[in-house]
Amino acid sequence: MSQAEATQTDPTEPFDVPRHVAIIMDGNGRWAAARGLPRAEGHRRGVEALRKTVRAAGEMGIACLTIFSFSSENWSRPPSEIRDLMGLLRRFIRNDLAELHQSGVRVRVVGERSDLDPDIRKLLEEAEELTRDNDRLTLVVAFNYGARQEIARAANRIAAEVAAGRIASGVVTAELIAQHLDAPDIPDPDLIIRTSGEQRLSNFLLWQAAYSELVFVPIYWPEFDRAALESAIAEYRRRERRFGGLAAQTGS
Ligand code: FPP
Repeated sequence: MSQAEATQTDPTEPFDVPRHVAIIMDGNGRWAAARGLPRAEGHRRGVEALRKTVRAAGEMGIACLTIFSFSSENWSRPPSEIRDLMGLLRRFIRNDLAELHQSGVRVRVVGERSDLDPDIRKLLEEAEELTRDNDRLTLVVAFNYGARQEIARAANRIAAEVAAGRIASGVVTAELIAQHLDAPDIPDPDLIIRTSGEQRLSNFLLWQAAYSELVFVPIYWPEFDRAALESAIAEYRRRERRFGGLAAQTGS
């Protein structure tokens, strides 16, 4: 099958999609640099790619989309770039929330909120509250997020429950840790996509990625669109997921 045949979808046919897709939206800066533009323009175009991707995910029937929007490690960037990224988040919530809500998107946020400006914390809480009953697509915004920090938060939550006598000591299981992560009701991602050609997880969903399929796409995030999403999903569908078991039997 050619790549084109593999990725082409008939809009009248339901497209067999993974339930949860998570994306590392990488390469905004390199996209801008390649065009002699400021990095801020790369991030602005990144938000446009994000809009297209959220719309496509909803139309394709993906139940959950997680986006890595600002990592715990991004604080090491220059203050002006941090301000740009915070400004883009504010504008994204202010400008797009009504449309997201109308199209049935439920917004969730994972990451450490206590370090964020109070107005951003309030916007994130309002977005979650307004959209809490929507069920077409759950958009999980990973903001000020790092997976090791999330696992440490889970450990602290468990420790507090042990101290309060609600959990016995010595009974910590993988399931208990999963139940104390930032969004325990969200299923693990089936597919994690990273753009820009880099092939690493960079502290994204380390716990939840145990059996995720990883697809690395050699384009910068501002170039990502529905066709790129379909192509990554087509690659995912060619993989055989075994979850530690054996390959499905073929033939006799
Ligand atoms: C990576 O590009 C991207 C980010 C650091 C953040 C992703 C942000 C957006 C898509 C826009 C903001 C969206 C919201 C909702 C706030 P990079 O800067 O690491 O690119 P580079 O590796 O080429 O320098």
